[in-house]
Amino acid sequence: MSHALEIAGASKAFDGRPALRRASFACDWGEVHALLGENGAGKSTLMNVACGLYAPDEGSIAVDGQPAAITAPADAARLGIGMVHQHYKLVKRFTIAENIVLACRSALGVRRPRDAAEAVAAKAAEVGFDIDPHAVVGDLSIAEQQRVEILKVLLLGARILILDEPTSVLTDQESVAALTFMRRLAEDGHAVVLITHKLREVIGYSSRVTVMRGGETVLAGAETAGLDAETLARTMVGEEGEATERHTRQLGEVRLRVEDLSVRGAGGIGVDGVGFAVRGGEIYGIAGVGGNGQQELADALTGLRPPSRGRIAIDDDEIAGRDVPAFRRRGMRAVPADRFRTGLLA
Ligand SMILES: Nc1ncnc2c1ncn2[C@@H]1O[C@H](COP(=O)(O)OP(=O)(O)O)[C@@H](O)[C@H]1O
Ligand SMILES: [Mg+2]
Repeated sequence: MSHALEIAGASKAFDGRPALRRASFACDWGEVHALLGENGAGKSTLMNVACGLYAPDEGSIAVDGQPAAITAPADAARLGIGMVHQHYKLVKRFTIAENIVLACRSALGVRRPRDAAEAVAAKAAEVGFDIDPHAVVGDLSIAEQQRVEILKVLLLGARILILDEPTSVLTDQESVAALTFMRRLAEDGHAVVLITHKLREVIGYSSRVTVMRGGETVLAGAETAGLDAETLARTMVGEEGEATERHTRQLGEVRLRVEDLSVRGAGGIGVDGVGFAVRGGEIYGIAGVGGNGQQELADALTGLRPPSRGRIAIDDDEIAGRDVPAFRRRGMRAVPADRFRTGLLA
């Protein structure tokens, strides 16, 4: 049987710096194929080549055993390749149906959102998504927006589905639902490419795995069943990097001290009497199921949301309740969870 998608010897450089070095990839119908690699390994670039967004400097692509000339996204769509990108390509102010018209006008032969709404509803029912075609995309949760993107590529007739880090913005429960859905698509005969850097997902949901490192394919289509997390991690980071080693270092003074901190929640649970101290030289982890006060805590620690009670001290200077510039002057910086929404003016 021919491979669903096969990429051979793909190279691509950006401004003279290679992102892909003769990378190869092959996946088959009916499987979830994980494409694993660290950040910057070239996973997205390789799949952007397959879906016509980037022209490779060299290399070839075959779909279902036939050589494929893919020079634009429309070529890839015609060949049944659909990609759900890491950052969704949806117009937030439009309804789901309007977004579908934008993307699928010619494929569906519809021009009006009203007609698209029927197609969306039918497809959603078929795959078991609970979606209102008239809902405004900006009002949807991230998980729902992802389902709209998946519906979009399915309506475009995709049989090879590429999902780029689909769980990076989802909660654990949403991730399980999304990954389970991907497996169902594969069981229905689709070829599903799951781009990820999470070993847990590779082991739990893929049948085979390809690993990339530094733009090269370092493991091509190995059966996942025969691999453990340690082997995968070593393949992913290379022999020189020790994935599981914990660096111990001398800890310095307390730089950030939080005492008895309470913050009102945006809608419900907030922060209730939390305290901890972070020393120089330390990476301090805060764990919890999403929506249990993490956002409110981060907001309070950066001056975005005033606490209702308690103390925050940076280098022993009390700063709770002051504004963002005050926190910035003390050297506080934050990388927000949703960087595209709250970190950048795109
Ligand atoms: N459009 C681009 N312009 C310049 N460099 C890019 C571009 N896209 C990716 N790169 C670079 O190519 C390399 C591989 O990136 P990418 O494919 O996004 O990795 P991954 O998806 O595995 O995290 C990185 O060094 C990245 O900075
Ligand atoms: Mg990527």
